[in-house]
Amino acid sequence: MTRTVYVNGEYLPETEATVSIFDRGFLMADGVYEVTTVLDGKLIDFDGHAKRLSRSLSELEMKEPCTQDELLEIHRKLVEANNVTEGLVYLQVTRGAADRDFAYPADAEPTLVLFTQEKSLAESPAAKSGISVISIPDIRWGRRDIKTVQLLYPSMGKMAAKAAGADDAWMVEDGSVTEGTSNNAYIVKDGVIITRNLSNDILHGITRAAVLRFAQEAQMQVEERPFTIEEAKAADEAFVTSATTFVMPVVKIDDAAIGTGEVGPIASRLREIYIEESRKAAL
Ligand code: PDD
Repeated sequence: MTRTVYVNGEYLPETEATVSIFDRGFLMADGVYEVTTVLDGKLIDFDGHAKRLSRSLSELEMKEPCTQDELLEIHRKLVEANNVTEGLVYLQVTRGAADRDFAYPADAEPTLVLFTQEKSLAESPAAKSGISVISIPDIRWGRRDIKTVQLLYPSMGKMAAKAAGADDAWMVEDGSVTEGTSNNAYIVKDGVIITRNLSNDILHGITRAAVLRFAQEAQMQVEERPFTIEEAKAADEAFVTSATTFVMPVVKIDDAAIGTGEVGPIASRLREIYIEESRKAAL
């Protein structure tokens, strides 16, 4: 099926949508993005994604391409035009097209692109069996709090995981886990949920914020601090969160089985709560 996509003010068939070869997103990875989940044809946590987008743009001194209300309207129109009941909306803003120069161009207009992708998310076989991860060094740049399109190292991490027969990779810096290639990382020890505190070292996950809120509301104990890869291997449970995986249990890290080696009760309970509450609050 040919999707309807959005590019710079126009809704077009995907085969007709184009961006300049001079676009700085293409030439310099000078762009930021968001991925918003669609469940039952509705957007999950749109507000959180729109706010983080504004923050990413402002940290990079990039112009806002439009208002938050306009963004919501574009998201909704695309979901409707493409009949998406479950999947995601991908949004990318770049600094725009200009002659190649390391300095930011003074007068470029931002490029705004959005498209939808259908995907079965809530019913996930992986969530029942749990996933395995390998550990790799975190050699990304120092502003991981900005959601830029510089995703080559995370792609390499996924490929390293695949080559090792695993599902994903957790990145480790100075002995501590920063995050997964495209998700935030958690362990559970003696009933306490431990996840790295927010800083420039990790992306401030929108799913992370929601899951920690739900955990606290359910009287679960949460500790936001770095944890080592050794601590993770000796944990009772482990899991990751992201817009597209929700809460995904991790049952193996490198060669170590986590806890019983099966999906743990806290991760599965949090997944249930997250999906249920997100459905209720969807726009
Ligand atoms: N990735 N950390 C990294 C490095 C990420 O790329 C992501 C999201 C997250 C989780 O953030 P959120 O809960 O807001 O989705 C953490 C998206 C899903 C992606 O690149 O496809």
